[in-house]
Amino acid sequence: MAHGRILFINASQKRDGNTVEYAQALLDGLDFERIDLVDYRMGFFGQDFADDQFEEVFQKMVESDTIVLGSPVYSETMSAAARLLLERLETRPQDDALAGRRFAFFIQSYGPKPLTVESAVASVENVVAPLGMRLIGTASDMVELAELREALESAD
Ligand SMILES: Cc1cc2nc3c(=O)[nH]c(=O)nc-3n(C[C@H](O)[C@H](O)[C@H](O)COP(=O)(O)O)c2cc1C
Repeated sequence: MAHGRILFINASQKRDGNTVEYAQALLDGLDFERIDLVDYRMGFFGQDFADDQFEEVFQKMVESDTIVLGSPVYSETMSAAARLLLERLETRPQDDALAGRRFAFFIQSYGPKPLTVESAVASVENVVAPLGMRLIGTASDMVELAELREALESAD
């Protein structure tokens, strides 16, 4: 299968909210592993906690072929959890551990503003490509979610 092992990273505060519903629609019928960032203790860039769990999340990403990051809109941007993950990925000592992974991103609310979507997607692009991952698509509504599903299943 083109998508290989799929990891869904839920960046919502909720384990059963709209972000998870979106992911279930996107990944309907596919096997996937899921992690809820709310279960992980991760400091933002510059913080150095002995019990930091970013590397656990990172290892899950390494073990996947396709990574789907899903976030709600909070304060007109992605959640702090999603942003923190991107920040930590960007500032981790760079290696090629994630090279070749396919990456998909969605952001949802009852109607995200274009600026919100544009800015969030730019943040994702900024992190994904330098790590050697390929952004196969992004979505911020159900139509784009259906297109993202096609991209997930495509061999490209
Ligand atoms: C703290 C907070 C801030 C939010 N800020 C925005 C916002 O700025 N713009 C927006 O469209 N929706 C905003 N929302 C609405 C959520 O994006 C929306 O309810 C989303 O579907 C929640 O996803 P979830 O169920 O996975 O948490 C906010 C919700 C919360 C809890």
